Amino acid sequence: MSRSAHPAGPRHADVLPEGHYTAPAEDLNALDPKVWARTVGRDADGVVTVGGIPVTQLAEEYGTPAYLLDEADFRERARAWRTAFGDGADVFYAGKAFLSRAVVRWLDEEGLNLDVCSGGELATALSAGMPAERIAFHGNNKSPEEIERAVRAGVGRIVLDSFQEIVRVAHIAQSLGRRQRVQIRITVGVEAHTHEFIATAHEDQKFGIPLAGGHAAEAVRRALQLDGLEVIGIHSHIGSQIFDMSGFEVAAHRVVGLLKDIRDEHGVELPEIDLGGGLGIAYTSDDDPREPHEIAKALTEIVTRECEAARLATPRISVEPGRAIVGPTAFTLYEVGTVKPLEGLRTYVSVDGGMSDNIRTALYDAEYSVALASRTSDAEPMLVRVVGKHCESGDIVVKDAFLPGDLAPGDLIAVPATGAYCRSMASNYNHALRPPVVAVRDGAARVVVRRETEEDLLRLDVG
Ligand code: LLP
Repeated sequence: MSRSAHPAGPRHADVLPEGHYTAPAEDLNALDPKVWARTVGRDADGVVTVGGIPVTQLAEEYGTPAYLLDEADFRERARAWRTAFGDGADVFYAGKAFLSRAVVRWLDEEGLNLDVCSGGELATALSAGMPAERIAFHGNNKSPEEIERAVRAGVGRIVLDSFQEIVRVAHIAQSLGRRQRVQIRITVGVEAHTHEFIATAHEDQKFGIPLAGGHAAEAVRRALQLDGLEVIGIHSHIGSQIFDMSGFEVAAHRVVGLLKDIRDEHGVELPEIDLGGGLGIAYTSDDDPREPHEIAKALTEIVTRECEAARLATPRISVEPGRAIVGPTAFTLYEVGTVKPLEGLRTYVSVDGGMSDNIRTALYDAEYSVALASRTSDAEPMLVRVVGKHCESGDIVVKDAFLPGDLAPGDLIAVPATGAYCRSMASNYNHALRPPVVAVRDGAARVVVRRETEEDLLRLDVG
């Protein structure tokens, strides 16, 4: 949560708890490059543009709400991760953040691998031509059908999440005459969220096999005995929206400790270690994420140091960033429907979407920024809450923000950093039609995921 130490803006300041609200930026028309996709700017008329196209034009062509995705930015960020880790490591984009066939092709072209966590994501990846050997298959309860499909397709790795799954995957692979490359996902007792990590507390969750109590070692022991499996490494994912590298440091230390124990007990040095994803992005100007090259350097140094201390050859590292690649590359464009000042409180701005296209505010108390996009304004800032059109008072898109005081129905507003976990977690609540994803690049726009129609909804409702 970003919290400004400044008092609230000129309106309603007297009734607001001190320090609770982000102060208005010096200039509400300014677009902080930290939170906006790289090709976003304003044209001579003050209209926000992306990839050289004004949002007014995009709204006219594709309607609102819409996710506008900056393809050049996506490719640049993907490439930056790839380059930062170099040939000695692998970058798996976490498809759960946002996946479409266009995205799969961009990843393929930029040399990234792909992490999928369901049959649906696997189908999307394969249908867009991602080579199966560059796909990692995750999930804490993969169905036998999903496992069989992944093994048959020849996925590069399946990440095993439980004792039952070790046996299940081994059995399926063997019955297909295959030896499946697998990693074993462990929980190292570190939970990292933003700045904090709580050591030892986090075995209490559904993912992975606990390192504590020797469970992870036992899982490796069993997996090594099964003919259907080739154990290639250990996997650890410690959390989401992380800025502080110390959680990774503890995780790497513990994973390498396990690799050492495996070497001592079985005489095998597992060749890979996957440190998962979770790297944070800027949702507001208060967030300061690290660059991929800094993250790559830090992680590589940590693993190398830990392995040297344990007298192990440094394994091949892989990472699984999702949010850090796609998050900043898209924003959601909404049209303002109503502006309702509540005297002494704040102004409620209702847009034509809401919790069905961005559940993160309601679900995680997430913070977002917002800007007037169809024009600039010199009006006094007003404290707003941007809300959706759903039948629920928790239907909030941006909890606290400032917009120009002359905001009116028909204006377009844009919420940045919605590339990750917004379209992918979108719902049809209240039979909302999920918005399209429009990719914009070099002055050209194209729909990569189309808007749902009432026909789509009714097609599922078979009476
Ligand atoms: N690898 C594994 C094994 C994961 O479980 C996840 C995310 C990732 C990679 C990618 O994490 P990222 O780099 O995107 O943070 N819906 C939540 C986030 C859930 C993340 C679940 N796992 C949100 O909207 O914040």
